[in-house]
Amino acid sequence: MTKRIRLRDVVEDDLPIFYAHQLDPDAVQMAAFPSRPRDAFMAHWARILANADSIEQTIVVDGQVAGNIVCYEQDGEREVGYWLGKEYWGQGVATEALAQLLAQVQTRPLYAHVVQHNIASRRVLEKCGFRVVREETGLPDSSGAPVEELILILS
Ligand SMILES: CC(C)(COP(=O)(O)OP(=O)(O)OC[C@H]1O[C@@H](n2cnc3c(N)ncnc32)[C@H](O)[C@@H]1OP(=O)(O)O)[C@@H](O)C(=O)NCCC(=O)NCCS
Repeated sequence: MTKRIRLRDVVEDDLPIFYAHQLDPDAVQMAAFPSRPRDAFMAHWARILANADSIEQTIVVDGQVAGNIVCYEQDGEREVGYWLGKEYWGQGVATEALAQLLAQVQTRPLYAHVVQHNIASRRVLEKCGFRVVREETGLPDSSGAPVEELILILS
């Protein structure tokens, strides 16, 4: 049966679910982004929800909270980002969620930073029309190794 994927505004009850998603060691490895302790995570989300200039949406799959997708400004560039619970990976959810966000957000260009080894995220972006424009060395990962990132753009 086809899954029903939709976006809606984030509500407070979603935050503990997002918190659990970003604790997953496989997700941390995939995104090369360290998980935040609970207090820091909640403070981070309080800040982004209070920012009128950013967009945060909960990804709902068949009525269940599957993850989040966000669009925010960083260093003068408007960025997209997303994170799904592992049980929802590999089913086309992120691609559909990003396509729905791109229909909502008319701003172009949009940017995304993806660590080189995150093939899934790169594919999500490319399937939605983003193209790699440059490479950058990002912040070190938890082992202290520099993280090689791809920068993608949707013009
Ligand atoms: C990255 C992530 C969002 C992908 O979401 P998803 O819903 O599984 O992606 P989709 O199912 O839409 O798949 C998109 C493409 O990636 C491919 N893909 C999915 N998982 C993959 C994997 N582990 N390895 C390689 N390719 C993968 C799919 O086959 C598909 O490509 P195709 O259509 O050419 O076959 C999800 O794995 C996730 O939340 N990871 C943890 C957080 C993260 O990395 N966020 C992004 C930071 S930039």
